[in-house]
Amino acid sequence: MSTPEDVRLDGRVALVTGAAVGIGAACATTLAAFGADVALVDREPEHLDEVAEAVAATGRRVTTACFDVRDRDAVRAWIDATVTEFGAIDAVVNNAAGTFRAPFESLSDRAEDALVAENLTSVTTLCRAAVAHLRPGGSIVNVTSVEAHRAAPGFAVYAAAKAAVANLTRTLALEYAPRRIRVNAVAPDVIPTPGTGMLLHAYAAKESQGESLQPWPDAGRPEDVAAAVVWLCSPMAAFVTGSTVHVDGGTWAAGGWRRQLDGDTYTL
Ligand SMILES: NC(=O)c1ccc[n+]([C@@H]2O[C@H](COP(=O)([O-])OP(=O)(O)OC[C@H]3O[C@@H](n4cnc5c(N)ncnc54)[C@H](O)[C@@H]3O)[C@@H](O)[C@H]2O)c1
Repeated sequence: MSTPEDVRLDGRVALVTGAAVGIGAACATTLAAFGADVALVDREPEHLDEVAEAVAATGRRVTTACFDVRDRDAVRAWIDATVTEFGAIDAVVNNAAGTFRAPFESLSDRAEDALVAENLTSVTTLCRAAVAHLRPGGSIVNVTSVEAHRAAPGFAVYAAAKAAVANLTRTLALEYAPRRIRVNAVAPDVIPTPGTGMLLHAYAAKESQGESLQPWPDAGRPEDVAAAVVWLCSPMAAFVTGSTVHVDGGTWAAGGWRRQLDGDTYTL
């Protein structure tokens, strides 16, 4: 029988990329709240120290680094420094990523390369560098998106890269199962964060026209994604690998279904 201790992460070391704000910051603080020491990276120094302070307040150890995860040498150096500091790695949360809306044919080669480097290659690089140091029982969690599982007009390359990470997740799960290292993904739908500013305006406009974007009545929060990440990193998820947890208020399950406003109430 599982016990509450099985969700504890005491004595474990977790790495989180893109940890300064949004989903990454929530992952960092929640992993620490459940007992993990954390190594955090973000390319923006602003707010990273605040997250580190919040972690330190839990009594857990924390290190911060500031670089762009597209820099492969910097990623490898960070892994080495983290292993030197903490001795081992137990969990890796590949969260740093980003996108912008653009018609497919307007995307320059440079912009496309940047999107692929940020959303896919940074993940392969970090997984490859970290996996050598992951202890048995270790866990990799890749933050993908609902867009990895459906068409995404205006976000073609981002969605394709996220779909690639979803597939990478399944393949690495099989490659590392013999070493008892689990590899899973969490796939959020829209979660209000600094990165979703413009998108939220567009969605708010749709809501005001009576169209609801997610089946669940309330908006998702970064903490909702972090909760799934912590569970996947914990012994509670010991037999879960190669899976995607959809943290999306039912969007993926709904397919093309939308709630419509009928007077003051939403109807099916
Ligand atoms: N928020 C959403 O609605 C949503 C939906 C689906 C998927 N996601 C995914 O969740 C993850 C986090 O999203 P968010 O909304 O919290 O983003 P955000 O933009 O609010 O925060 C991302 C953080 O990552 C950092 N970062 C981005 N690229 C980086 C890089 N190349 N190197 C180092 N740091 C980098 C940023 O500086 C920032 O601090 C991403 O993988 C995103 O694709 C988010």
